[in-house]
Amino acid sequence: MFKHIENLKQCFSLLDDHARLASTPATKALARHVTSSAGRTEQSLVDSVVMAGALVMEHCETAAYETFIICAQATGALDVAHLLQENQEQEKSMIEKIKVAATLVAGADG
Ligand SMILES: [Fe+2]
Repeated sequence: MFKHIENLKQCFSLLDDHARLASTPATKALARHVTSSAGRTEQSLVDSVVMAGALVMEHCETAAYETFIICAQATGALDVAHLLQENQEQEKSMIEKIKVAATLVAGADG
């Protein structure tokens, strides 16, 4: 199963830092966007709007990991980069799962 949190805790430990809990402005904005869009969408399409929001979030996370990995590699923190790559692969896997769910929600065969 996914071990994002464990990997991130290990990254902070390797960097001799500590995690800070905070939601990002992007996360809050996306939640508002999905809520607003769902409210203006025909009921039969609301689940697809939610799926679109989930895909946006996973792609944002994947892009963020890409940047973090580049930074870790650039500073020689290869053990950190490896942990971040594991998380990024899990994010990519989640994108594929959401796409399957979105296909089912849309009523298509795939
Ligand atoms: Fe994610």
